[in-house]
Amino acid sequence: MKRICILPGDGIGPEVTECAVRVLKEVSDQLEFVQADIGQAAFSRHGSYLPENTLDLMTKSDSCLFGAVTSLESSEYVSPVLAFRKLLDLYANIRPVRTLVRTSQTMPIDVVIIRENSEGMYTQREEYDDEGVTTLRRVTRKASKRIVDFAINYALTNGRSKVTCVHKANVLRASDGLFLRTFREEMDQAGKGLIAEQQLVDSAAMKLVTSPKIFDVIVTLNLYGDILSDVAAGVAGGLGFAPSGNIGPKYSVFEPAHGSAPDIAGRGIANPVATILAGAMMLKHLGLPSEAKAVERGVGNAYASGHLTYDLGGRHGSKSFTDHVVENISNLEFR
Ligand code: NAI
Ligand code: MG
Repeated sequence: MKRICILPGDGIGPEVTECAVRVLKEVSDQLEFVQADIGQAAFSRHGSYLPENTLDLMTKSDSCLFGAVTSLESSEYVSPVLAFRKLLDLYANIRPVRTLVRTSQTMPIDVVIIRENSEGMYTQREEYDDEGVTTLRRVTRKASKRIVDFAINYALTNGRSKVTCVHKANVLRASDGLFLRTFREEMDQAGKGLIAEQQLVDSAAMKLVTSPKIFDVIVTLNLYGDILSDVAAGVAGGLGFAPSGNIGPKYSVFEPAHGSAPDIAGRGIANPVATILAGAMMLKHLGLPSEAKAVERGVGNAYASGHLTYDLGGRHGSKSFTDHVVENISNLEFR
């Protein structure tokens, strides 16, 4: 049995994780679930956005599936997401974006964004002075090498042919320059058979929209990866299509790339696909590749048979779309 820690969180988090758990239960009877509080809900119950007990359950599980949290604007607020990424050493963030359905709102895209998850602009070190604030943005050779090696390994083991380094080394010459140099060195040494390309982040954002086919695997710094994964998701139909995995040497947390979407929370119309596909990524990570494939096929077939979610102008809410995914999976031979 594999133990999965479910962290529903705030806003649409509980709605979409509930759908993903239903799908996971449909594909495997080898999973057991524990649930833990995180975010505003955790704060109101335990006085902490990431209670000790939650962290304890996360570290005692084989993997975690997280929904989303609503953040506060206060400068004292510490995001529980940034906290668990740091505490669990989840240094790599994998964000695959693939178009599942062609409508007037989508374009074909199939890209995997590998985002450095431990430093860059997310060090949370901001210092006030009389005139303003200075933010410390850190780039180290160690973390750059670690994420580039991760991207190379991902590309080689997932049948990908090209890795593009996205950076802004024309302006941030020292820091992004170090990232780019590390990319070139590692690609030379370990990226055998892979095409190495590099692109400035601003033009990469444009090209993701106008010619997404030129990208395969992207490796990039923390903030760029965060922004570009939303751009790529937009090309595939919206944030409801972008799953994400936070991976470290020991622990893993899978989640949709989107946030708590307060504008649609509680209405049952959120697209659960990003979270369901995050569940598929988790299955693969746990050594259950056939089950992962079955989830992907279940989602693909639900769209292929004409069931469109609200974000694509359809009539299917979280629950009814999940009904179709579950029904499709029950018709598959995969065990
Ligand atoms: P968001 O990702 O929650 O939503 C952006 C837009 O996409 C909204 O219009 C929303 O309705 C739509 N959207 C998001 N997920 C969707 C889904 N599954 N189906 C259909 N439409 C979907 O980002 P926003 O609005 O900027 O942030 C809301 C809150 O979430 C903030 O407090 C933010 O800090 C937090 N956040 C949390 C994250 C996390 O927990 N990992 C990540 C990003 C934001
Ligand atoms: Mg984001």
